[in-house]
Amino acid sequence: MKKIAFVLLMGLVQWTVVHAQDAVAGRAKADSACALCHGPTGIASMPSAPNLAGQPPIYVSEQLKNYRSGKRQHEVMSVIAKPLTDTEIANLAAWYSSIKVTVEAP
Ligand code: HEC
Repeated sequence: MKKIAFVLLMGLVQWTVVHAQDAVAGRAKADSACALCHGPTGIASMPSAPNLAGQPPIYVSEQLKNYRSGKRQHEVMSVIAKPLTDTEIANLAAWYSSIKVTVEAP
């Protein structure tokens, strides 16, 4: 019983480490390639760019893949998404979704 609990615990630790690394790698990539327009914490620093903070990973990764494939077109984002690998897209999505956002009604 103890052994099973230990194995499960190690699995959880490993899962946590792997997922934490994804967001860390995504953040590093975002800092260099995305922050100029989407802001250092995913709140856009440019009026024509959308906020990405707190977006579900599935949404961010789908849009990036759509830009990459040409299904969604935009003069800037199509160029930016073109060289991204699936891993980079997953990491970027992990980073933006990990940012906590709070909203306040006016
Ligand atoms: C030069 C400015 C600029 C940079 C740099 C940039 N973006 Fe964008 N991004 C935009 C603009 C403008 C849009 C809105 C495009 C549209 O209308 O389709 C956008 C749209 C998006 C969307 C779609 C969001 C939605 O709500 O549908 C995603 C996801 C995205 N960008 C991710 C990224 C990532 C990840 C990077 C870095 C690898 C990045 N962007 C770099 C300007 C930028």
